[in-house]
Amino acid sequence: DDIFDEECDYLFKAVVIGDSGVGKSNLISRFTKDEFRIDSKPTIGVEFGYKNIKVRDKLIKAQIWDTAGQERAITSSYYRGALGAMLVYDITRLSTFVNIKKWLHELREFGNEDMVIILVANKSDLSHSREVEKEEGKVFAEKEGLCFMETSALQNLNVEEAFLQMITIIH
Ligand code: GTP
Ligand code: MG
Repeated sequence: DDIFDEECDYLFKAVVIGDSGVGKSNLISRFTKDEFRIDSKPTIGVEFGYKNIKVRDKLIKAQIWDTAGQERAITSSYYRGALGAMLVYDITRLSTFVNIKKWLHELREFGNEDMVIILVANKSDLSHSREVEKEEGKVFAEKEGLCFMETSALQNLNVEEAFLQMITIIH
């Protein structure tokens, strides 16, 4: 995939962050390739997903950066130039929601001030083992001035909507 595609009007960099296992890589593969893996391995280093999107009359190439939630070796280069950020937690693990504060702190330290940030509550298909109510996520997002959406990468619920919200607000 050539990121300097001549047909594109804009390159849009977005980063996806959140604890290990919340579903970052699967959200990206669902959005960019309509793929989901039940047995996906933890991400090592940095990976990229690409998707061309038409917003009004402009062709935008979204370049989505994916890294490991666990290895905390993120440097400022990960955030540099990013216009959008997706902060992901898993509704079945409260600790991943608690840690959103930490991720948001890092984002505000290294990211652009005017970055569009969307808070994503993933794995909504697992409502029988829910540990974080939708309302809690919503209230937190409102307090912090973030967009909010519950998603399921497995069931393909709200995944495209979440990415498009992040990308189209800018353009
Ligand atoms: P790291 O790369 O380690 O930071 O993890 P990650 O956030 O990229 O998580 P990943 O996408 O690898 O998903 C972790 C596990 O959760 C995998 O077994 C996925 O199949 C599963 N998973 C991801 N999204 C969903 C979802 O929406 N619903 C369900 N039920 N499982 C999901
Ligand atoms: Mg991953």
